[in-house]
Amino acid sequence: MTEMLKMVDITKKFGDFTANDKVNITVQEGEILALLGENGAGKSTLMNILYGLYKATSGEIWFNGQKADIESPVNAIELGIGMVHQHFMLIPAFKVWENVALGLEDEQRYFLKEDQVKKKILEIALRYNLQIDPDAKIDSLSVGLQQQVEIVKVLYRGSRLLILDEPTGVLTPIEKGELFKTLRELTKSGISVIFISHKLDEVKEISDRVTVLCRGRNVSTLDTAHVTTQELARMMVGRDVLLCVEKIGGHAAGEAVLELRNLHVKGKRRVATIEGLDLTIRRGEIMGVAGVDGNGQSELIEAITGLRPVQKGHVFICGKELTHHKPAHLIKNGVALIPEDRKKVGSVQTFDIERNLILRRSADPEYCRHGFIRYKNLVREADMVIEEFDIRYSQRNAPVAFLSGGNLQKLILARELNANPTLLVAMHPTRGLDVGAIEFIHKKIIEASDSGAAVLLVSSELEEILALSDSVVVMHNGSISESLKGDSLNLENIGMLMGGAKSDMIGESKIA
Ligand SMILES: Nc1ncnc2c1ncn2[C@@H]1O[C@H](COP(=O)(O)OP(=O)(O)OP(=O)(O)O)[C@@H](O)[C@H]1O
Ligand SMILES: [Mg+2]
Repeated sequence: MTEMLKMVDITKKFGDFTANDKVNITVQEGEILALLGENGAGKSTLMNILYGLYKATSGEIWFNGQKADIESPVNAIELGIGMVHQHFMLIPAFKVWENVALGLEDEQRYFLKEDQVKKKILEIALRYNLQIDPDAKIDSLSVGLQQQVEIVKVLYRGSRLLILDEPTGVLTPIEKGELFKTLRELTKSGISVIFISHKLDEVKEISDRVTVLCRGRNVSTLDTAHVTTQELARMMVGRDVLLCVEKIGGHAAGEAVLELRNLHVKGKRRVATIEGLDLTIRRGEIMGVAGVDGNGQSELIEAITGLRPVQKGHVFICGKELTHHKPAHLIKNGVALIPEDRKKVGSVQTFDIERNLILRRSADPEYCRHGFIRYKNLVREADMVIEEFDIRYSQRNAPVAFLSGGNLQKLILARELNANPTLLVAMHPTRGLDVGAIEFIHKKIIEASDSGAAVLLVSSELEEILALSDSVVVMHNGSISESLKGDSLNLENIGMLMGGAKSDMIGESKIA
């Protein structure tokens, strides 16, 4: 096997903080290398250096046997290195082929022929199992297809090494299967892949070797076949991790906390429109909402938390009608939200950790008095939260835009869970978290329900839903199924309902 990439003793400092400390990785031709590590371990930083977005403080990069000076993504692309970012960089109003053509080299752009671009896109798509229609508009495509466009874009430019930073977080199981097929086709033609994921079973399934990082340093590099997921978890976190938290009992006998009656909400997309939805969640109950993304889950959550207008119908919280109330008023009534989009909705990117922590408590005299922030109290609270939730940062006073993805998620979780909510509305709460952090957050969610909170948990991880929920409803086309409880609560029934089966088709005996 020939070595394609070698990163040697890469160090990256942000001020006094060392994000990468003499890190070494190698990638062979046609291999998939998984990069593993806790939140904040330095994975994205290392990849940003390879792609020319950051400059290493010291260290060397060798590509195809030659020393490479990668000053910018343009250099990286010229060398044959491509990156698919977690937040896609496509222009929604443009067509697929236009997005692929965007940013191609000047001389090519002058003579760019639509037909030729489309032809080449179709050739790439055919070869690597990508379902691409060059004339489709980006905003009409599912997230999985948009990711495929990103991959085509990279391959179109002749990349031989593909960097995928947490590519599966936003995919459905079927889309993930398609992505893995594509990756296997790529490696057959000698293309290499660096694959970042927190999902250890995926790493086991798709990678040839694994490099584990911990706090910016190499821990080890191993052949994937020779290591178990438990061992990988231990290497990352430095201790044994429960890969699945056991929920004991359930206390869903209390009074109703959230009641939705005949709820009508207009959707972002046609399928997601909600018409006449009824739902009740009681004190101490964790209700899971399963379903393929885009079937109305976001609309439901936004309507409950005051972020999207309710067309018709009622929202009651603890018996009080709060249908058209603003988010601030809902917060006062004990509603907490862990939103889907941690950057745009969950945080203010230019604020530091402290300011983000008091976003929902700016009226609390403990932290704000006469319009002034009481910094001493705030810093004390922040110190505690950072310790408890193990939030890792490079500079305390820097904007949270500089936090790693998982650490930003932990900050939002800390703020919302520590508010002792009556109703906790959580959407994909553990997306992007490492296995140790997931274990901790699952415990915290169970604790919240133990102390009486009602929890509405939307997640694309069925294992998470099954592990935490007392009852589960499935959303499909803007409607919800009857709730699955006890014996009827299993993967098979959830899967059927997700595919569009009606509750009565599952058999009445199976539904509680
Ligand atoms: N531009 C920046 N300025 C300051 N600090 C930064 C910057 N980029 C990253 N960091 C810090 O470097 C550390 C490593 O971050 P990085 O994003 O590489 O982590 P990661 O391994 O990708 O974690 P995650 O799994 O959460 O995505 C973090 O503590 C982060 O706050
Ligand atoms: Mg990252």
